[in-house]
Parts: sequence; C-alpha cells; structure tokens
Amino acid sequence: MKNKYLILVNRNHKMTNEQNYEKVLCESIYAKDRTLEKKTYEQFLKLQKFVKENGYIIAIESGYRSSNLQQEIWDECLELYGLDYVKSFVALPGYSEHQTGLAVDYLIFDNGKFYEDQKMVNHPASKLIANNAYKFGFIIRYPKDKEHITGYGFEPWHLRYIDDVDIAKYIYDNNLCLEEYLIKKDDHKK
Ligand code: DAL
Ligand code: ZN
Repeated sequence: MKNKYLILVNRNHKMTNEQNYEKVLCESIYAKDRTLEKKTYEQFLKLQKFVKENGYIIAIESGYRSSNLQQEIWDECLELYGLDYVKSFVALPGYSEHQTGLAVDYLIFDNGKFYEDQKMVNHPASKLIANNAYKFGFIIRYPKDKEHITGYGFEPWHLRYIDDVDIAKYIYDNNLCLEEYLIKKDDHKK
C-alpha cells in the first residue's frame, strides 16, 4: 500500500487535495491553537517525551497552516527580514508542506527562554533531535548543505513526519534529503 506520509511537497510539487489529512488540536506551551495531522502529533509527543527524558523541553511552534496563514507568514517575514530571507526560508502558499499537517516546527524552552529558528542551531537539544528524530518517523526536512536540492536553507527546527522508521533511518544514515531519497527509490524501480 502507498505510504500516504511519504509525499513530496516542494517548490516544484504543489500540495494536492488528497493531502488534506485529518488534523487534531495540539498542546503547546508556546501557543494554544496549533494543529497537526493525527499520527504526526502522536509521534511528536513521543519524541517530545524522549527529549524530556534527556533533560530538554521542546514545544510546537508551528504546525498545520492554511493557505492564508502561509501567505501571512510570507508577508510578515518579508517585512521583518527581507526578500533574501523569505526566498530561503518561506514557501509560497500551496507549496508548503505545513499545509499538509505533516510538518512541525519546534522550539526549545531553556532557562526561561525560547530558542527558535537560527538561535537553536548550536543548542544540544537540536543536535539530540537531529540524531534521534528518525526513531519516531521524522526527518530533518531541510538539512545543512542540501539547499541546492531542497530549495531552502538549513532549518534544524522543521521536522517532517514520514511514518516509516526504516526509511527515516536510511535517510538519516545516508545523509540524504527527501528529494534525494525519492529519486533513489524511483531509480530502483527502473
Ligand atoms: N519553511 C518552510 C520551507 C515552509 O515555509 O514551508
Ligand atoms: Zn517549518
């Protein structure tokens, strides 16, 4: 059976109507109204527990986004950070995997402060997550040094749920991004 979680949404692949999955309301110490695809949230909770057992607190910063919300984020980031930033870090409405509910941006809560976006790059919790997220079916969707393939800068905070732990491990072990994995997979079929 086709894995409904192993889909590609990127600059060249617009989200489709079939990718409109069931969403659930999420708990987050950061915000009250976040939602995610059901299993994505269940697995995020397990990852969050694992992170807590290792001494760190993470929370959902951004989950599912409607097309309007994606546009708002685009506009807001343009005003705050400029066009270069927006081009590197924000998808256009219709082309963001946040619109599927399978993507979650987390932040780290440490010593009374939230570490988000680039501020988390050197925090040990983001390293812990980068090295263990696959165990829960997540991948780091926009890895370092893959900008030319994913089309986006390094986003340690953006996790993408793909469900299949073996595939997530393969992607992690081989330092691939999702696009590279999907090309390899198709090559095997030929
Ligand atoms: N930050 C990712 C690319 C998005 O806006 O969906
Ligand atoms: Zn994101």
